Amino acid sequence: MDYLRNTWYLAAWSEDIKDGKLFPRTLLERPLVFFRDTDGTVVALDDRCPHRFAPLSMGKLDGGRLRCGYHGLEFDSAGTCVRNPHGAGRIPRAALVRSHPVVERFGGVWYWAGDKEPDPALIPDFARLDDDAQVTRRDHLVMDAPYDLIIDNLLDCSHTSFLHDGMLGNAEMLPVPTEVIQDGTTIRVVRWARSVPPPGMFDMLFRGDGAPVDTWTDFRWDPPSHLLLDVGVTPPGRPKEEGTGYFGTHILTPETATTTHYHTAAARWGIQPGTESSGVRLKVSDMRRFAFEEQDEPMIRAQHRTIQAFGADAPRPVLLETDAGVVRWHRIMDELLAAEREDNAPAANGR
Ligand code: FES
Ligand SMILES: [Fe+2]
Repeated sequence: MDYLRNTWYLAAWSEDIKDGKLFPRTLLERPLVFFRDTDGTVVALDDRCPHRFAPLSMGKLDGGRLRCGYHGLEFDSAGTCVRNPHGAGRIPRAALVRSHPVVERFGGVWYWAGDKEPDPALIPDFARLDDDAQVTRRDHLVMDAPYDLIIDNLLDCSHTSFLHDGMLGNAEMLPVPTEVIQDGTTIRVVRWARSVPPPGMFDMLFRGDGAPVDTWTDFRWDPPSHLLLDVGVTPPGRPKEEGTGYFGTHILTPETATTTHYHTAAARWGIQPGTESSGVRLKVSDMRRFAFEEQDEPMIRAQHRTIQAFGADAPRPVLLETDAGVVRWHRIMDELLAAEREDNAPAANGR
């Protein structure tokens, strides 16, 4: 698959990379091993020993050194071999492991997938996640679907009225316009439904009496696959601030061409009396995970299989009004990929 390279991807939640532990994860088809150096800094190395290509993640951490589990070569956090326990202990010049730039921000570890100088200022703003007290479980699942189909799913929120009917959407929310707002390469896809029955999740978080609400979904997408959903309910005709909702992250990182790391958490606001408990927080985590894992994933996986089964025979997809955001993110992404290809072209020709 053609991935955007000179950009950040979320590798893992910070809390998943624990002191003294090796953490293997494949990103963009590249097996990597993550760990914390003695000062706590996260390190990312190729998960491949230069000797016989064993995965380094099957080795051991000894202070800041990673010892290969097969024949014991030792590497420092830059991927340089610093000890050969065999014979005279000579260290071959090629005994190097590639290391990759990583930055910790917003409770996550971000991985730079390109060769250009990484710029941490390019990480999209997920500061909503910084207030731990209101954030639900930082969840991770691997979806058996390519990342672009998952973005298509997210940016067309009309599917909630069918796939998540009753929990996150309902039929009354359908006849509303889809507005797309673009600022540089960032887009927002906004839908408002007025005076409709509250979807179950939001009835639980708001009044619990099924009384009509105004409800919105305002999905922000930043390239390549980073989404933040502002979603909530408020009494009909009243400003958002009088209601409740959350900012949900849907930060996707391709694992392979057909599987995707899905990082999700929700930062609640406007928390109503009686819904402050950790039990409610857990329930929001569980309901969201259920929606993504048991409702979205089977549909997207099946959609992908159908697309593959028909192969080259595929017509262009029929477009509906609700596809406005989907069309836009593809257009921006195609431009970015083309620009990156062009950037790489002279080097490739010169080889
Ligand atoms: S494969 Fe790593 S030391 Fe031999
Ligand atoms: Fe969904």
